[in-house]
Parts: sequence; C-alpha cells; structure tokens
Amino acid sequence: MRSVVAALCLALCGCDSVHALFAPRARRAPASPGVAMGPWLLGPAAGEMTVAWTTAEPVKGRVWYLEDRLAQEDTARTDHRVTLRSLPLDAVVRYRIEASPPVAGTFRTAPTPHSPFRVLVYGDNRTNNGDHALVARAAAAEGAQLALHTGDMVVNAADNELWARWFSEEADLLLRTPFVPTLGNHEITDNGVSYARWFQPPSRPAYHSLDYGPVHLVVLDSFEMAAGADPHSGAVSDAQLAWVEEDLRGVPAEKHVWMLVHQGPFAHPAHMRPGRGGSERVRLAVQAAARRHSIEAVFAGHEHFYERGEVDGLRYFVIGGGGAPLEDPDPTFPTVEAAHKALSFVTVDVCGCHVTGKAKDIAGRVLDSFTLSSCKEPCGAPLAAKGGAP
Ligand SMILES: [Fe+2]
Repeated sequence: MRSVVAALCLALCGCDSVHALFAPRARRAPASPGVAMGPWLLGPAAGEMTVAWTTAEPVKGRVWYLEDRLAQEDTARTDHRVTLRSLPLDAVVRYRIEASPPVAGTFRTAPTPHSPFRVLVYGDNRTNNGDHALVARAAAAEGAQLALHTGDMVVNAADNELWARWFSEEADLLLRTPFVPTLGNHEITDNGVSYARWFQPPSRPAYHSLDYGPVHLVVLDSFEMAAGADPHSGAVSDAQLAWVEEDLRGVPAEKHVWMLVHQGPFAHPAHMRPGRGGSERVRLAVQAAARRHSIEAVFAGHEHFYERGEVDGLRYFVIGGGGAPLEDPDPTFPTVEAAHKALSFVTVDVCGCHVTGKAKDIAGRVLDSFTLSSCKEPCGAPLAAKGGAP
C-alpha cells in the first residue's frame, strides 16, 4: 500500500521524497486566519484607539503597536475590536494585526488642544456604480486625521455583500483614519443590526459624544428606533433630547461644539418629498444643546447634495454627495449660502481657536470655503484666547 501511495505521489504531486509524505508533521503554531473585512479604527480618544476587523474563523485578535506593545482579546471571535491604550497625544502610531497575511497601518492619535488637524466629513454613499469609490478615493487623499460620516452607507443594511463592497471601497481611508459615523435611515433597514455590529460599542445608544482635542462632538440619532423611527420616517426620543442638554453641561466654553446627525435641522431640496428637508425633532435637539453651549456647526446628510446655510446664527451643513444618486438643492432659499449638486465631501481644518473648511468635488475642485471660528491669535494659541462663548 505504501509503495502504491509513494508511486502516486511521485507521479502526481512531484514530491521530492516519499519520506515527506509519511514523516510526522512538524509542530507549528496554527496560522492566523486572514483579515476578512477591515481594519477600521473606532473610538478615537485621548490616549486610545480601537482597531476593528473580521475574520472568517474565530480567533483571539492580537494587535502589535508602538514597536513592542501587544493588545489582545481574551476569547476567540470573528468580529474583532482591540483597544490600544496609553498612546501619546498627536503622534503617528503604527499598528499590525496578527493575521495571515498580517495587516499593518498607521494613524495619528488625538490632538492636543493646540495642535492642528484636519477632519473629513462625508456621507450618503449608497454604493452606486462606483461613485462611492470615487468619493472615498478623493477623500482619502486629503490626509484627514478624523473622519465623520453623516450616515447612509449602503442601500440595504441586511445585504452583507453591500457591506463587503463598502468596506472594500473605504479600505484606504479606514486603515488610517478613525471613523465616527451617525446612524442613517438606511442603517435601520435591518433594524440597526449591522450598524451596531460594525460601529457601535455594546450597551450604548447610537447617540453619544466624544472629545477630540479642542472639539466636543455630539453625535445624534435622527432615526432612533426606540422612538418609533422606520427607514422612511425619523424620530428622536424625549430621552435623547434630555441627554443632549445634559451632555453639554460642563463642557468648557472655549470648546468647539459640533453636532453630527443624519437628517439635519434644515435642508432645502429643490423637489420636496415626504421625509425630506429638515427635521423638527432634530431642531429641538439642537435648541436643547444651544441652551448649554454655543453650537459651532451642525453636520448632516440625508439629502444627496451639498448645502451650507445659517438660521438664527446656527450654521448648518448638508453633506450628502458621497455617492448616492445626486439630487438638486434649492440655492434660492433665503437661508442657503452655498449649494451644489456634486459628488463631494468636506474638510475642516482646526488649529486652536481657528476653524476653517472647504467643500470639494472628486476632482479636488473647491466648491465652497467657510470659516467657523477665528481669533486674533495665531494658529496654535491657547484656547482661552478664543473667548466669546457663553
Ligand atoms: Fe438618508
């Protein structure tokens, strides 16, 4: 029998030696499975970053960073989240996921209150004949340190193939840019299951806030399922309204307070349809926030165009040109200061008390420029120089 197998091996496999076939297998550590989806970076905070990815087989996730530090999971799983801790501020960190093949990336950690940084704001991708890929590629080239997503990533959140495509088209950006999304109406087409799986820490509502250098970011949920939202109709609970006001209690006056939400307080499409335009409940949330702190800007999406405007001193943005079928804004509406029907994104540059921004199309052409905050002191001056906030 052995001779028959040996002959077959020599004839079919080209084995150098039959001994190789029968020799006991060398003891080797099991190979780590490959990264199936990701990585992407979550939870940017002073001194922390979480690396997320998936594998086809359960394994304990392990991430090397800062040369010789290791962070790892306690149990084997397929959806991985490993938090890197004790990171220096405003530093480039290289990380490597143990996988076959390994995957390495770099990111810049959260800034100091005075270090300059760039934020990307984009959304409404809705995988559409590669348009999303064009926006993601152009946005990735901006070198932003933080990415804010205004919601609606895929048409049908229950379709895993769409998610795989979305992550693939975002790969270059997500490898090195921490990602903070807000939940869109398309994210609840599977009752929010995938959104929670990819982006949301367990036991936390979709609305939350975070501090990033001199910015305090309030992330609202304009399609709150607990308040009765469905993919066609937004909702914001009284509990969320109370939370917003409470969240801003005690936020230092000199902080830049931004709000990120899918359906914003104001939007002016040329052709109004049910469920479009601004949200009354979100306007209440912004008003609740404004009772505690001045709001520097509200970044929203939902409508597939770019709009910047101001209502009673509140600066609002609609940033929804991320790949979904484009729609016409109404540039003649009195509160609208800029409006464009274009595949587009926004970059915001922050340096101490200075905040400026640009809306760009996928060719890099500047569609709009704006200033959200300025002061006499040069970029990098202490935050106390900003003043003027209540
Ligand atoms: Fe939407």
